[in-house]
Amino acid sequence: MFKMTITPVNPINQATNEYYLTRQNEMESNVRSYPRKLPLAIAKAQGCRVIDVEGNEYLDCLAGAGTLALGHNHPAVIQAIQDVLASGLPLHTLDLTTPLKDAFTAELLSFFPKDQYRLQFCGPSGADGTEAAIKLAKTYTGRGNVIAFSGGYHGMTHGSLSMTGNLGAKNAVQNLMAGVQFMPYPHEYRCPLGIGGEAGVEALTYYFENFINDVESGVVKPAAVILEAIQGEGGVVTAPIKWLQKIREVTQKQGIVLILDEVQAGFCRSGKMFAFEHAGIEPDIVVMSKAVGGSLPLAVLAIKKEFDAWQPAGHTGTFRGNQLAMATGYVSLKIMREQNLASNAQERGDFLQAELKKLARIYPCIGNVRGRGLMIGIEIVDERQAADRIGAYPADGELAAAIQKACFNNKLLLERGGRGGNVVRILCPLIITQAECEELIERFARSVADALKAVRA
Ligand SMILES: Cc1ncc(COP(=O)(O)O)c(C=O)c1O
Repeated sequence: MFKMTITPVNPINQATNEYYLTRQNEMESNVRSYPRKLPLAIAKAQGCRVIDVEGNEYLDCLAGAGTLALGHNHPAVIQAIQDVLASGLPLHTLDLTTPLKDAFTAELLSFFPKDQYRLQFCGPSGADGTEAAIKLAKTYTGRGNVIAFSGGYHGMTHGSLSMTGNLGAKNAVQNLMAGVQFMPYPHEYRCPLGIGGEAGVEALTYYFENFINDVESGVVKPAAVILEAIQGEGGVVTAPIKWLQKIREVTQKQGIVLILDEVQAGFCRSGKMFAFEHAGIEPDIVVMSKAVGGSLPLAVLAIKKEFDAWQPAGHTGTFRGNQLAMATGYVSLKIMREQNLASNAQERGDFLQAELKKLARIYPCIGNVRGRGLMIGIEIVDERQAADRIGAYPADGELAAAIQKACFNNKLLLERGGRGGNVVRILCPLIITQAECEELIERFARSVADALKAVRA
């Protein structure tokens, strides 16, 4: 029988990171992004640890951009994959059902109010989930406009990029989806109205309500409002509870579909199963991906039953039936509930934020530490410049990049986000231990000192 080894040709130590990076550079498109900031070739991973081909061990606080909620290669996840392989189930079923899919669907629905939501399996990316959500809102309402928020991130396909704040990727692509109206999103450090504090949140809340109700706003009634309850790529910006509640109230009154994009903040990361739960609201559509597949690609919408206006095949996609992802997703959901990973995320996150705030007193280049649970942002600023009218210093993306680089050298994997990439982000696995959190802080503190020496000395 034909046999092919899929073991990489690189038992540890036979080739360097540089060897693989050079080959990647030659063979892959210029579009690659992470390898430029995290220049390694991964050989192995377990829990919160990653080992490169040279045998270096890193603490992974990027974790597949928050996808690996249970860390790398959790034994239950590996067992679930092996069980599917041994069971004879087809690996891929379009949207045909199987007993495994049935169990996964019921398990995922059990996290939503009973009998009120249905699931839609999408193509396996968060972007396809947000595309489907917008198409459904347009189908349901018969309207065409969408309200999105500055700083938001919903993916890189044409439609989802149109609803994304970051101009870097947008400027290069003409004729994105029309009819997207951006509105300001509250920001605890950089209030877009230049007011700040509670008064800033109140003004933004008033502004949203007034704008939607204003018959002279110039914007015809939208089909949907789409937002993240915590903006991830935008620099870990948490929506204030009252603002979120007002958005729910106004959209409900006006018959506008409210879409919560929980692709990054969902699945215990924020200290609750879904980040919108902090505000006690019920969205009309919830977009889920990343952690929902328990390490493997999957995207799912939860749709309030009355909004399920799809005609059969109104949104399809070949890869909606990944049985392995449903198996790994199923065990991951079980573990999240049984081991109360939401409260682990909350406790560890509280510890990390407290320690980072202590560091901010030592290093004033840390302008702001924020987030919920294990979704934490560390805003890097140039405190040698003048602060603005609300006390915020200019962003220092260069120093943030140097900190990320120093973290890498100190074997800590972290990503950046936010305006000018000046927010260092922690998205570690939800199973991170107290000892690992202490290690994280120690390595991060050392990296800030190293970066300051390199950039500002
Ligand atoms: C909030 C949010 N929505 C959508 C997406 C897009 O997901 P994907 O990269 O799987 O298309 C992301 C990805 O980071 C995200 O953070």
